[in-house]
Amino acid sequence: MEPMPIMIVAPKIRGFICTTAHPDGCARHVAEQIAVVQKRGPIAHGPRKVLVIGASTGYGLASRIAAAFGSGAATIGVFFERPGEPGRTATAGWYNTAAFEREAAAAGLYARSFNGDAFSDALKAEVIAAIKADLGQVDCIIYSLASPRRTHPRTGEVCKSVLKPIGETYTNKNLNTGTGVVNEVSIEPAEGDDVAQTVAVMGGEDWEMWIDALQAAGALAPGVQTVAYSYIGPSLTWPIYKNGTIGKAKEDVERAQRALDTRLAPLGGKAWVSVNKALVTQASSAIPVVPLYISLLYKTMKAQGTHEDCIEQMDRLFRDRLASGKPQPDEAGRIRLDDWEMAPAVQEPVARNWQAVTTENLAELGDFEGYQASFLRLFGFGLAGVDYAAETDPEVPIPSIRAAASGG
Ligand code: NAI
Repeated sequence: MEPMPIMIVAPKIRGFICTTAHPDGCARHVAEQIAVVQKRGPIAHGPRKVLVIGASTGYGLASRIAAAFGSGAATIGVFFERPGEPGRTATAGWYNTAAFEREAAAAGLYARSFNGDAFSDALKAEVIAAIKADLGQVDCIIYSLASPRRTHPRTGEVCKSVLKPIGETYTNKNLNTGTGVVNEVSIEPAEGDDVAQTVAVMGGEDWEMWIDALQAAGALAPGVQTVAYSYIGPSLTWPIYKNGTIGKAKEDVERAQRALDTRLAPLGGKAWVSVNKALVTQASSAIPVVPLYISLLYKTMKAQGTHEDCIEQMDRLFRDRLASGKPQPDEAGRIRLDDWEMAPAVQEPVARNWQAVTTENLAELGDFEGYQASFLRLFGFGLAGVDYAAETDPEVPIPSIRAAASGG
């Protein structure tokens, strides 16, 4: 039997991913993020022509929205998503981008998107050709990829990123985000070339390759700024994050930042690492231990009125740090959007609750409900004003990709 062209879309959760996404729900999610930025008013002296690498979900999508709807920027977005087909939904990032482009067009903003492997030379060349043809140059490049693997463009080697401690087994509390059970998890340490592989995927080399290719093509505007995202977090997560395989990759991102800073200096340009807050995204839900920490963190920050989601973080990045001329770098030269997360008034209760939390008191000490709601929202579920009982068409075009396909 032919699959139905339209369908009722419900969440299908498999471990820490949801294999369906709701087109109208994702569109609502994008609209809500746009509204957050617009409510704060225009961003003075913000970027005008922005390339976002990893632009379809999480921090990259929020960056694109803040640049476009806060700063009035033309945006080019790069991502790796799957379109819908009869009987099968697209990935959330596809629907997010379709909605973003519709909203951008309605606001008179240039937006063009590229779906493919950002690690490849071919996609870099295609994107740079589009920048040259349409915008001439870019004045801001956001690097927000999170990927489990990378095919190296020079060697062809397929590298895999792993989330492991280094040196010894790490045992700590963990939350089963499907059931709400708080148990313990033990993660075996990295072995073989796990560290080198993780650095190859999530380290700074590909960021450098993008900036070098843009610079060689003359596609960087004077005074260009580029930002890559990192995370540090509290000591309870250090064995799996900061001191683990992913932390080594983030150290390499900082190495790349210093190298890029030197190379951009003749243009009056600047490379930044921005340390962002721990938030529910597709990437963070895959990290052991972190979802329990996020549940406790959300509870405390919501109670204190300092909770932010990706869009509030990225609005603050552009508005208060990059455009204001007051980036407030730390001793290592990093922008710290994790300042509110790391405040002692937040970390002290979170650390106490970490010791005390069990399956039974999770609802009281943590915000598991908020965690689950945020997770579902990533895939367009649980948004106000969406009729989830209605049949919907899973095939939604991304205007600039459709135009490119029919034009070529
Ligand atoms: P995400 O999973 O929501 O977004 C990843 C993006 O990368 C998506 O747009 C995806 O399409 C794109 N992508 C993945 N592989 C690709 C490929 N081969 N080619 C082109 N695009 C590809 O992840 P999230 O959480 O927004 O992470 C972005 C960055 O922010 C990462 O560097 C992460 O370490 C960092 N970060 C995340 C935090 C969190 O709590 N989620 C906290 C602080 C930093």
